[in-house]
Amino acid sequence: MRVCEKVAEIRSVVRELRRSGPVAFVPTMGFFHEGHLTLMREARRRFPSVVVSIFVNPLQFGPAEDFAAYPRDLERDLRLARETGVDAVFAPARTEMYPERPCTFVDVERLTGVLCGRTRPGHFRGVATVVSKLFNIVQPDAAFFGQKDAQQLQVIRRLVEDLNFGLEIVAVPTVREADGLAMSSRNMYLSPGERRAATVLYRSLQVAREAILGGERDLSAVREGLAAQIAAEPLAQLEYAEILALPDLTPPHATDKELLLAVAARFGRARLIDNVTVTIGEKTET
Ligand code: PAF
Repeated sequence: MRVCEKVAEIRSVVRELRRSGPVAFVPTMGFFHEGHLTLMREARRRFPSVVVSIFVNPLQFGPAEDFAAYPRDLERDLRLARETGVDAVFAPARTEMYPERPCTFVDVERLTGVLCGRTRPGHFRGVATVVSKLFNIVQPDAAFFGQKDAQQLQVIRRLVEDLNFGLEIVAVPTVREADGLAMSSRNMYLSPGERRAATVLYRSLQVAREAILGGERDLSAVREGLAAQIAAEPLAQLEYAEILALPDLTPPHATDKELLLAVAARFGRARLIDNVTVTIGEKTET
């Protein structure tokens, strides 16, 4: 496995890899858990070559957020990537990605005015900018993203379409602990009590999903029930509980078939998000 810190190096490695066929890309911020490894395995299964990036992107963190504290363990990440069969890792320093304060940013409108876009101003501008840079550097044929970051996924799909990036975006279902908690690097901030309490997110999402699948069409009532169930957990500070139509993340109408049920809440210093999707008329696995 090649480990590159410089843009020029990873470009030349990708050129070599491309000789064996199309290249898959898994952008990450490191501190790997089973969710990241599943993205890499899926990329490996479908493509002859897999490139992973590890970069904690300062642009997507607000001033009061956890950029400095965000967990990092490059040695362990490189070992896991190697064991998973990754061909190359791009792990640039901040100065390699942003030698100067950038003047150019990528803003994806509309889709970023809801959910995390509302509570984390500037977050998706940071994500869209770094993902565009990474796509330009690596020039992959496909990029793999987790369904857990459902809004990020829609933002990136739209970005790729609007800016003609010419690559396939592959969504991979959320990987969960045995009790349903979605895997996240931020779960390591949870105390044992908060860890137990955090299972309320997926439990309440499932209840809401079952209600809709069972024929409930008063989505405001379902949304209120979802919010109330999370708010009733003493260790949870609810940030939002929303039901929106996919793929545009707009308020749902009776004719919408694909719905996203999304929640965000704080448990101590961990801000966690989770979601499920519902296809009206059939069950989906998320
Ligand atoms: O999902 C993440 O880990 C990050 O938002 C991403 C896509 C790697 C951009 O920094």
